[in-house]
Order: sequence, then C-alpha cells, then structure tokens
Amino acid sequence: MATINFIPDNAIHQIEDGSQLIEICDEIGVSLSFGCTEGTCGVCEITVLEGIKNLSKVTDEEKEYLLPEDLEEGMRLGCQVKVRKGDVSITWKKSKKT
Ligand code: FES
Repeated sequence: MATINFIPDNAIHQIEDGSQLIEICDEIGVSLSFGCTEGTCGVCEITVLEGIKNLSKVTDEEKEYLLPEDLEEGMRLGCQVKVRKGDVSITWKKSKKT
C-alpha cells in the first residue's frame, strides 16, 4: 500500500501501489482539477513535496509541457502520474471558483 497526502485538501489516503493519480482523485473527490487528461493542458499541475521517487517516471508529455527547472522543483502533471509505493505528499494551486 502507498499513502498519499493531498496537502491543499488536508486529506491523507491509503491507495494500492501503482495507482493512477487521476483515478484516485476521481474516486475520493479531491479538489485537484483535470482538463485534457493527456498531458497537454497543464491544468493538473502538481508539486511533489515528499516522495517524488515513489512516483512513476516523467512521461514524454511532461518533458514537453514542463520546463526542466519545473521538473527539478518537483512539478509533475497529475494526469500522468502513478504512485508506485511508499509515502507521497503533493500540493497544487487551488483554482478560484466563481
Ligand atoms: S489534465 Fe491536461 S495536462 Fe493533465
């Protein structure tokens, strides 16, 4: 089992190793937004605060969309990420709902 801490929602969940982040978010209803789900729009940008090594490898779509310095700072695209194992903490900018 892996554990993921969704910092903006103050929510911690235990999940199966290898889970797709987008599916977890859909199941448990966290406030992270998704758009294209294909790694091209950037709506799902997250910053990994802890456990970046516990995530799947950076995809070609992420390399295309994110700058190398973004990746170094722990940014990922939520729609591209799988949680392989262990503890992970992520954060994101909350969208302003009108
Ligand atoms: S939802 Fe568009 S890049 Fe992730």
